[in-house]
Amino acid sequence: GTISAAALIASASSASAQAGCDDGEMVIKFAHVVAATGHPKGDAATLLAERVNQEMDGKACMEVFPNSTLFDDDKVLEALLLGDVQLAAPSLSKFEAYTLKYRLYDLPFLFSSLESVESFNDGETGKGLLTVMEDKGYTGLGYWLSGLKQFSANKPLLVPSDASGLKFRIQTSDVAEAMIEAMGGSAQKLAFKEVYGALQTGVVDGQENTWSNIYTQKFFEVQDGITETNHQVLAYLLVTSTEWLNGLEPEFRDQFMKIVDEVTATANANVADTEAKNRQNIIDAGGEVRELSAEQRDEWVSTMKPVWDKFTDDIGQDVVDAAVATNP
Ligand code: LMR
Repeated sequence: GTISAAALIASASSASAQAGCDDGEMVIKFAHVVAATGHPKGDAATLLAERVNQEMDGKACMEVFPNSTLFDDDKVLEALLLGDVQLAAPSLSKFEAYTLKYRLYDLPFLFSSLESVESFNDGETGKGLLTVMEDKGYTGLGYWLSGLKQFSANKPLLVPSDASGLKFRIQTSDVAEAMIEAMGGSAQKLAFKEVYGALQTGVVDGQENTWSNIYTQKFFEVQDGITETNHQVLAYLLVTSTEWLNGLEPEFRDQFMKIVDEVTATANANVADTEAKNRQNIIDAGGEVRELSAEQRDEWVSTMKPVWDKFTDDIGQDVVDAAVATNP
């Protein structure tokens, strides 16, 4: 049969409205798992796409797929090697199958602030860690910060022993598992998109995440409260396929990397503010935020810090020392 001109136009325009890409432009797909806006990673991805689409118009076209709509974190790394997606930014906890060096970032109470994380990442050791997976086909383009992590549960947590017997959702991180066990709890690795449902139905009792994730995923609605532990950093590796990156024309690649570096700096400079806003958003929406006394905080530190010893060999003492040295 014949397809009407109107139908053709309708389907062409809906395809381009979705893709927004012109013929001849290199399509760069970026898949991530968090909210599209109001979140450090969602906002960074949006800004990156805006700049690429404006400044590289005619050469490149970036499409962002937020909220696990294209891939979740356990699939996205394979998808990069298959060329189904060109950029991703999973948390550094999600690379255990490729390198054990990133276990560094999960060590509890390692970095005292986001400034320390940034100064480590910008230093020689941090920069060196961007390329440790090249033999597996991945290159890190930069680190995107997300924030410090907080605990929540279906009952108040003020000292670590309050977590005794509770089950916590964790990322795919053996360090996190050891940390939860040190608190007397049990850990269950679950994909990010499953966390809300698991908390709501009682599959798990609690979780640990940033203010931005707790707010934008509404975890606070299905928890008793959030305890301000700041016990770990959540940071992302903006990652691509080494083969894809090396296949870019030098001029294209330089322009793209300049945009990536500038967006990374801008995004990281906004993180503290976004995190503070989302902490307040939780309170404004009726969520309970519990602050720790100095004594209570000491208990969390002394319960969790022994976990470091189990992982220092995987990470390298020199790397751990370089990270500790960034704290004031
Ligand atoms: C998580 O799985 O909790 C986080 O890594 C999600 C994210 O990307 O912030």
